[in-house]
Amino acid sequence: MNITQTKPSLPLPPGKFGLPIIGETIGFLRDADFIEKRVKKYGSLFKTSIFGRPTIVLVGAEANRFILTNDKYFAIAWPQSTKILLGPLSLSVQEGSQHQSRRKLLSYAFQPKALAGYLPSMERITLEYLQKWEKLGKLTWYPQLRDYTFDVASSLLVGEDSSFETNISQLFKDWCDGLFTIPIPLPWTKFGRALYCRKEILDHIEKIVLRRQAEQNPGQDALGLLLQAGDDEGNGLSLAELKDQVLLLLFAGHETVTSALGTLCLCLAQHPEVLALARAEVLQVAPDGCLTAENLRQMTYLEMVLKEVLRLVPPVGGGFRKVVKTCEFNGYSIPEGWVALYQIAHTHEDSSIYSQPEQFDPERFSPERAEDKQKPFGYLPFGGGMRECLGKAFAQLVMKVFAAHLVRDYTWELLPNQSLELIRVPTPHPKDGLQVNFRRSLPL
Ligand code: HEM
Repeated sequence: MNITQTKPSLPLPPGKFGLPIIGETIGFLRDADFIEKRVKKYGSLFKTSIFGRPTIVLVGAEANRFILTNDKYFAIAWPQSTKILLGPLSLSVQEGSQHQSRRKLLSYAFQPKALAGYLPSMERITLEYLQKWEKLGKLTWYPQLRDYTFDVASSLLVGEDSSFETNISQLFKDWCDGLFTIPIPLPWTKFGRALYCRKEILDHIEKIVLRRQAEQNPGQDALGLLLQAGDDEGNGLSLAELKDQVLLLLFAGHETVTSALGTLCLCLAQHPEVLALARAEVLQVAPDGCLTAENLRQMTYLEMVLKEVLRLVPPVGGGFRKVVKTCEFNGYSIPEGWVALYQIAHTHEDSSIYSQPEQFDPERFSPERAEDKQKPFGYLPFGGGMRECLGKAFAQLVMKVFAAHLVRDYTWELLPNQSLELIRVPTPHPKDGLQVNFRRSLPL
């Protein structure tokens, strides 16, 4: 394969732009098979127009590697709706040296020492929610999972407890619903509603920031680190930036994890044999139910289950980049000014990497099979390169703590007459919210 600066004669990838301005955006957002259909027709590299911009979709491990490791050709480029809703000072929008310095700063909140410190609070919140669900018996789980993950993120990253008691979790839901939309700022559009929610959430965050600024000790959570940070002249971060960064952490810290936990709960309900194996492991490794960094590490089967959840239904399906310099890939030109979209979900469905990719099969991650190790960038639920997920270790920890307590002590069945169809945008979630009968399991 040849990856160099393009010769003028190279063709553009096959594909169609669709309608003027909106291009193929509606199909991209609504048709779950949008990419698959085009891959069948044009191959793993095709052009389209999404969110008002000419876009090249690149599918496969090799393409992921190309995009995620070639920073001279590609830079972050969220759709306009996402960019506006995240805010201009958000880490995920920042570029160059500013991005690097903020990323370095925030990474302290996700280092092993910080994570070990989060464990007791994570467990406490998890047990509170599990007991609440046990009392409810029948429940629509997905919105409850969202409250749970939001509580974990706001408590551990921003130091705010029980935020779900305010309606901020609902504001976040409506804000998320506007992330991938055509940005028409009218009150009745999803984007218009999301803009309103952004303002409301920022007002709420401002109060938290001002309160924390007034305290003597800023603390070591993510907000504490941001409050102590300064530029070379010793100036602290502006209030506007603090607000955008907290908004990002709260959003990124809970929406994706909710999706992953929803898939975990669904897959375990459908695969009782996997639940039984995971349960036996947790009971053996942590007989008293007390979790530590060490016994969590020993839960290797549970680890495989969680990896498989993130392979089968990755919460983030792919990522947008702008092409900053014309380049070529597999004999096609990738022109400057266009957008490139790399694919996580479709890479995870590649049958040249994963045997029977549509099956839920945690053993594919066993040391003997190690299917994910076959190709670099063939398994990438957290993305890769310099924009790899900052909260990866935090997310893995919450998922494991939640899963360990859940499989150890509980059992649940899916209620009949519900749609389990996955809605993919903004993050994959079951259409009817995952209705279950939830109870404590009998001792083994
Ligand atoms: C299972 C849960 C999660 C998944 C699957 C996930 C996935 C991802 C992916 C794929 C990206 C890269 C997007 C791209 O390439 O454009 C990303 C970026 C990011 N994630 Fe996560 N994430 C998860 C949880 C979290 C959590 C818990 C946090 C924070 C507490 C977080 C914070 C971030 C941030 C700040 C970025 C932007 C990094 C940058 O631009 O430098 N994520 N995430």
